[in-house]
Amino acid sequence: MSVLLTGATGFVGMEVLARLLEGDEEVVALVRGGDESEAQARLDTVLDGLGVEPAARSRVRAVVAELTSPGLGLTDADADTLAGEVTEIVHCAASVSFAQSLPDARAINVLGTRGVLELAQRIGQRGALRRMVHVSTAYVAGRHRGRFAERDLYIGQEFRNTYEQTKAEAEALVDAAGQDLPIVTLRPSIIMGESDTGWTPAFNVLYWPLRAFDRGLLPSIPTKPGNRVDVVPVDFVADAIVHLLREPSDVRGVVHATASDAAPTAQELVALAAQTLGRDRPPLVEDSDDSLGRHSEEAAQYMPYFDMEMIFDDERARELLSPAGIVAPPLHDYFPALVDYARRARWGKTALTRAQARAQATTPAA
Ligand SMILES: NC(=O)c1ccc[n+]([C@@H]2O[C@H](COP(=O)([O-])OP(=O)(O)OC[C@H]3O[C@@H](n4cnc5c(N)ncnc54)[C@H](OP(=O)(O)O)[C@@H]3O)[C@@H](O)[C@H]2O)c1
Repeated sequence: MSVLLTGATGFVGMEVLARLLEGDEEVVALVRGGDESEAQARLDTVLDGLGVEPAARSRVRAVVAELTSPGLGLTDADADTLAGEVTEIVHCAASVSFAQSLPDARAINVLGTRGVLELAQRIGQRGALRRMVHVSTAYVAGRHRGRFAERDLYIGQEFRNTYEQTKAEAEALVDAAGQDLPIVTLRPSIIMGESDTGWTPAFNVLYWPLRAFDRGLLPSIPTKPGNRVDVVPVDFVADAIVHLLREPSDVRGVVHATASDAAPTAQELVALAAQTLGRDRPPLVEDSDDSLGRHSEEAAQYMPYFDMEMIFDDERARELLSPAGIVAPPLHDYFPALVDYARRARWGKTALTRAQARAQATTPAA
């Protein structure tokens, strides 16, 4: 039994890989690279950064793949070998850029997902596919206002960017394939660092205004006080993925990995950030020509995520994840760890590996 993992060199995929190797799974990671040895070298760097023990490393290997190529860029022989050994799939790979052209975003997020589904079908024809977990995003909800349920997909919403649009298109493909295959789709909201160490390799979305705030560069914040900012830590997301992977095959459909009704309001988040960063609270302003958007093009991409009048329903998550203790912790519990790590990593300029962050977190200060 092997798990096929896409996106193992990315933020979420790494965290999933660490968990699979802590268990007893055999893992095949589809990794980009010029050839097999380059893909393996990239995977080895990830394993070093995760601090994976030598015995566990022997249970994972890289297969070079390119999700935008037909058949994932695999030879027919490779695809056949994989179909003979893989029983489970976790599809994490995606472009998470908010600024890609629609064709480029579609190539990875939609065609890449189609390629993974074709491989899943090939395994399914042998009767060997036990489970696939597809990682989507709660922001397939786009600009919807009000509650967004796990059963909702296209409900008349507009999308903020090509990322949201193409992740929704990918979900539609997964939904169709899920009529015949045992697939669960997990939709996380904005993913932050680990709740214990604060570690993250990605300083985007919420980290952007936090860094500006920490540097005293944020005179005001463009949002309404009651809007929700739904964020979750990466360990919660990875725990949910691995748990759903181990669920019986009859568990299907969509599960939200969100803070939902526990998500802080913008006002609460600003108060928490001001207290943790030791700065005065900037005022919240409702006008769209805001202070945050004027900082840079990058900031302008993230800004709409702080101006959201939406709550994610999480009925299925409460049914499938909560009984196993997999619940998003309240942000105020882990926010200090996020800020502490971000400051030590100089907001991404001197990032640590996950293993280094763990070692520092367990070493008492001198
Ligand atoms: N981060 C968030 O806040 C967030 C929130 C909600 C949902 N999600 C979802 O979570 C999943 C993982 O996101 P992430 O944050 O881990 O992203 P990430 O750190 O950018 O990692 C993306 C992964 O996808 C791989 N990939 C990209 N293009 C590829 C291609 N053409 N062929 C093969 N592999 C390719 C990357 O490989 P390379 O190393 O070769 O680039 C990398 O391993 C995505 O499905 C995303 O939509 C993320």
